[in-house]
Amino acid sequence: MDPDTDAAQVANLTHGARHVAIIMDGNGRWAKRKHLPRSLGHKKGVETVRNIVRIAGEVGIEALTLYAFSSENWRRPADEVSDLMGLLRQYIQSDIDEFDENGVRLKIIGNYKALDNDIVDLIDNALARTAGNDRMTLAIALNYGAQDEMLRAVQTIAAAVKRGEVEPEHINVSHMSGALDTAGLPPLDLLIRTSGELRLSNFLLWQAAYSELYFTETLWPDFDKSELLRALESFGNRERRFGGR
Ligand code: FPP
Repeated sequence: MDPDTDAAQVANLTHGARHVAIIMDGNGRWAKRKHLPRSLGHKKGVETVRNIVRIAGEVGIEALTLYAFSSENWRRPADEVSDLMGLLRQYIQSDIDEFDENGVRLKIIGNYKALDNDIVDLIDNALARTAGNDRMTLAIALNYGAQDEMLRAVQTIAAAVKRGEVEPEHINVSHMSGALDTAGLPPLDLLIRTSGELRLSNFLLWQAAYSELYFTETLWPDFDKSELLRALESFGNRERRFGGR
């Protein structure tokens, strides 16, 4: 833990946010501004992932969900998709020991089984190896789209109806939350998007129903500890009413 992040500060730094999600946007623009290839923007983006995962653990966030690869990202040029997959491979291999040392449990949301077989194997091993860690959950969204996630959840519930386990009129919010990929994570408190875009881009649409939203112009490769703390502070200043008054 950083010397400036002692245990007494932990509760203050999260401002009560248990689950934070981030749409990590702007790697390409970061690279372009520096006249570098996009691939180097993504590479720097992974360094930011590593840094923010560490800091999130230090400040006491219980769950961090990162949008790494959407179900729409397959439309990018093949070499960029392959760069992103290469970085993912490397990241899991190089950081798994650190996850274990820091009590990080890995979780994947999205249909990751459609990725290359070797990545699926790496992920399955990492999931099994970190399953008992309980300091923080790092949920990485891979081949993820919220509409796809909700459709799969509806299919799960429909199958339960078909088996006679639930009456259609008894289907409730808990059934749906429990059938989503995020089942078991705390409710989503804060959703951050970097790089100035003001969209949710098919990310956690159900889970964001009562989340606070935070948008920053900062490009993902430049997102750092002070930015995360600023977002949490802004969260702390919001008055959350959940539809009440
Ligand atoms: C957006 O930048 C970023 C992504 C496509 C996803 C984020 C991916 C990473 C940080 C690297 C892989 C992640 C892990 C967990 C290993 P963009 O290319 O859309 O940027 P632009 O809008 O400026 O072009």
